[in-house]
Amino acid sequence: MARKIKWGVIGAGGIASRRTIPEWLAAGIDIAALDSVMDIDPAAARRVAGRFGIAHWCANESELLARDLDAVYIATPLNMHCAQAIQAAAAGKHILCEKPIAATIEEVNRMEEACRAAGVKFMLGFSMRNNIYHQKARELVQGGAIGRLVMARAQLTCWYPPIEGAWRQDGAISGGGALIDMGAHCIDLIEWICGSKIIEVCGFQDQLVQHYRTPIEDASTAVVRLENGAHGIIDNYFNLPDAAAQNALELHGTRGSIIGRGTIGQDPGGRLFSIVQPEETGYQADQIRNVPARRVEFNLEGKSLYARQIEIFSNCILEDREPPIGFADGRHSVAVIDAIYRAVRERRTIEVETPIS
Ligand SMILES: NC(=O)c1ccc[n+]([C@@H]2O[C@H](COP(=O)([O-])OP(=O)(O)OC[C@H]3O[C@@H](n4cnc5c(N)ncnc54)[C@H](O)[C@@H]3O)[C@@H](O)[C@H]2O)c1
Repeated sequence: MARKIKWGVIGAGGIASRRTIPEWLAAGIDIAALDSVMDIDPAAARRVAGRFGIAHWCANESELLARDLDAVYIATPLNMHCAQAIQAAAAGKHILCEKPIAATIEEVNRMEEACRAAGVKFMLGFSMRNNIYHQKARELVQGGAIGRLVMARAQLTCWYPPIEGAWRQDGAISGGGALIDMGAHCIDLIEWICGSKIIEVCGFQDQLVQHYRTPIEDASTAVVRLENGAHGIIDNYFNLPDAAAQNALELHGTRGSIIGRGTIGQDPGGRLFSIVQPEETGYQADQIRNVPARRVEFNLEGKSLYARQIEIFSNCILEDREPPIGFADGRHSVAVIDAIYRAVRERRTIEVETPIS
């Protein structure tokens, strides 16, 4: 029988119990076995183990890490990622860590050092790269289908009212609001789809609607410049109704546009179409815009973003390959998010400098 990677889960809350575990088990990934689950809340760990038939559950990391596991999936609040990754690395476990990677670049460096010292692999959970429409958009943009890229937009929103005890609403734990939580995905998607890093940022942020217990933003609108010269918008709101959510992906170039709706999110689906002008027409003084264009709606079969992550990382371990999303991506993500928060605070544009570890 082929070897299976034996997994433990640290943090049996929302994303683990609603998406990763059920979608992974439903996908029947034959190279990944789920052995155990740990949560600081024993009732949560017990409940999730019972619901999904997981053999072992516990409420502390040491007990989980003492088991004969190959890998752990860290799905806890942001302020725990660094310490738990270091502890898991010291126990010789490979690590798949949820976004955002960590609170600071210094934490990312410590996580990387721990993994290097222990000789374990690390992958960051930018799950939305696994959406088949994002992969198509990337292929089109990088293949030149819309000409030279001029502007890219990635939006992710949800209705997120004040909730008693919610860690995301405590800035000391979450590190911020809509930007760090949802914008982290948008930043990564824009850069990955366009094949170009964000180098300069500015923006606006406010707590416009929700009254959280700390002053995290429920509205974040960032304007960015990519290394290739294109402009970008990353817009994230905790105060728009889910029924009207667009979660827009827009990529505009000199030959046309690629438009996504609902692809940015936890579901594997959404809509994607492209509008491309086949030929250069010259300046149209009348601006009637009756130029022929080719409109293509893509209908692709999406699969679970979260199951795919488990499969990709298990394969990297089995085949001793470098995971596709690592510390360099994590460090850059922290640098861009920090730069946007600073730009907003200081009301100016800021250049992003990603330190090399
Ligand atoms: N990739 C995605 O699409 C996606 C979506 C949602 C959340 N996330 C990320 O996943 C992580 C978890 O978010 P969530 O929405 O599941 O949060 P959550 O609050 O729903 O769940 C977190 C769980 O961690 C547990 N926990 C808290 N401290 C712990 C500790 N020290 N040790 C072990 N368990 C602990 C809590 O009891 C809870 O069950 C965050 O980093 C978040 O940004 C990613």
